[in-house]
Amino acid sequence: MKLSPRLQAIADYVPKGAIVADIGTDHGYIPVYLAREEISCKIIATDINEGPLQNAKSYIDKESYGEIIETRLGNGLKCMLPNEVDTVIIAGMGGILIAEILENSKDITQTIKNFILQPMVASEDLRRYLINNNYRILNEKLAKEGNKIYEVMLATHGMDKIENDIYYEIGKKLVENKDEHLKEFLKNKIRKTENILRKLKNNETIEGKQRYESLKNKNEEYKKVLNDIC
Ligand SMILES: C[S@@+](CC[C@H](N)C(=O)[O-])C[C@H]1O[C@@H](n2cnc3c(N)ncnc32)[C@H](O)[C@@H]1O
Repeated sequence: MKLSPRLQAIADYVPKGAIVADIGTDHGYIPVYLAREEISCKIIATDINEGPLQNAKSYIDKESYGEIIETRLGNGLKCMLPNEVDTVIIAGMGGILIAEILENSKDITQTIKNFILQPMVASEDLRRYLINNNYRILNEKLAKEGNKIYEVMLATHGMDKIENDIYYEIGKKLVENKDEHLKEFLKNKIRKTENILRKLKNNETIEGKQRYESLKNKNEEYKKVLNDIC
């Protein structure tokens, strides 16, 4: 089965020969792809919920990769031991939950080299967590499916410097790489922000005015980035 662009972007960050944990695997598509393409010869696919883990198990069995892919029920990295894997994928969850999973298992994260992270929302919070907790974002890309654009990050341990706060929202690597979907991604953000600004315009409360000013400034920053890459 062909992976969707989002899942393919995630899988593309897995180095050949990696030992991988896919946390919150659900359907199990990524583990099966990594096994089939001989990118990885050992994968641990986990999920906190029995139903999704059963989905993954059925698919793995159907594709006959049960010897390469182990399934485990558990919360985040709590079902892992130190040094079991060198690469972890945490995808399809909110950025705050991904940060919590990393924060709650430092004994495990210390022994992992590659972190492939794909937040569905709150990517800014996740970048802040990474930068403030000695992670370095090595690369980022955008994957487009229909009208949606997803952010996919590759991080490792190390120091990173954020010169401009806008890079918490718009990954610096996306700008440096002039990601093929970045213009559209920025235009979507500008459109959404302008819709909120229109609604806030007549809000006379102190909070409303503060939010208006802060969103207006952010929108100017989006426009600057868009201008820089054009
Ligand atoms: C939307 S699915 C994403 C599936 C797949 N990773 C993807 O990106 O397509 C989110 C999955 O994460 C699982 N999940 C949520 N919180 C989790 C946690 N703390 N630890 C492990 N799995 C979790 C859910 O049960 C669900 O199967």
